[in-house]
Amino acid sequence: MIRVVDNPKKVEDAYARQYENLASEIANLVLTRRGILAEIGCGEGQLTIPLAKLLPRHRFNVVDTFTGAYSGALGRLNQALFVAKLKSRVKVNVADYLDWLWEEFSDKYAGVISSEFLPEIDSYELSMFLSECYRVARPGGLTVHSFLSPIARNRRQRLLIDADSNPKWTRTPPKEWFSPKPALVMSELRRTGFRNLHVEKIKSNLIIKADAVRNFLHSWEVKSTFWKTHELQLASEGLEVPDWLIVSGRKP
Ligand SMILES: C[S@@+](CC[C@H](N)C(=O)[O-])C[C@H]1O[C@@H](n2cnc3c(N)ncnc32)[C@H](O)[C@@H]1O
Repeated sequence: MIRVVDNPKKVEDAYARQYENLASEIANLVLTRRGILAEIGCGEGQLTIPLAKLLPRHRFNVVDTFTGAYSGALGRLNQALFVAKLKSRVKVNVADYLDWLWEEFSDKYAGVISSEFLPEIDSYELSMFLSECYRVARPGGLTVHSFLSPIARNRRQRLLIDADSNPKWTRTPPKEWFSPKPALVMSELRRTGFRNLHVEKIKSNLIIKADAVRNFLHSWEVKSTFWKTHELQLASEGLEVPDWLIVSGRKP
């Protein structure tokens, strides 16, 4: 069912529902009853918290630099972990993902996951990152990476992708892409040795319009010139969150 949000106060809640759906899909891929999951680029725990609630026997090692546009995320993560009573099961590491992964033992983790982290890196880093995911995952272990699809299905999604990736509009332009194409992530996973590869697509069914768009764009570091340029379209049609992609594989 499509949800249209036009009240600025409802945006955060609607977005939290997206992560709850994502967490339940990802939890279904975790076949171990217990173990440690590593999460790279955890941010303020948008995925970590709903996922940890669904996997009460797992521990989490989460990593983020918490710098630049994300410098406030550490405080919000700690607060959210406290409220959710997850402090004892979620260990927060403030580090660059590669520096951190290089220090980890091989074959340690039941799974290595990320959400909206692949948009932060480029194709060169993607290859190094997935090789490290493979090394630290234990045999039979899982890797899962979720991100918004770079392939727009309609005008509203195309506009959101442009707002978030075009340096004309965003204060934090990506290194290479809004998100990698799923086929590239799959081929890199295969190259590093992962098998049992899957791509799952979940429609966000979330349209944000009128006044709510302003809040949303502000939180995504989009300049106000974007709003001014597209005001009519944003008021009438709005933006639509693209489909969520969940790409996964297992270490043989
Ligand atoms: C778009 S946010 C995603 C946050 C959260 N996982 C989510 O799903 O909404 C990307 C996160 O990656 C983190 N990040 C970017 N570069 C990083 C790096 N080199 N090492 C560790 N984390 C990094 C950022 O600090 C940010 O919190």
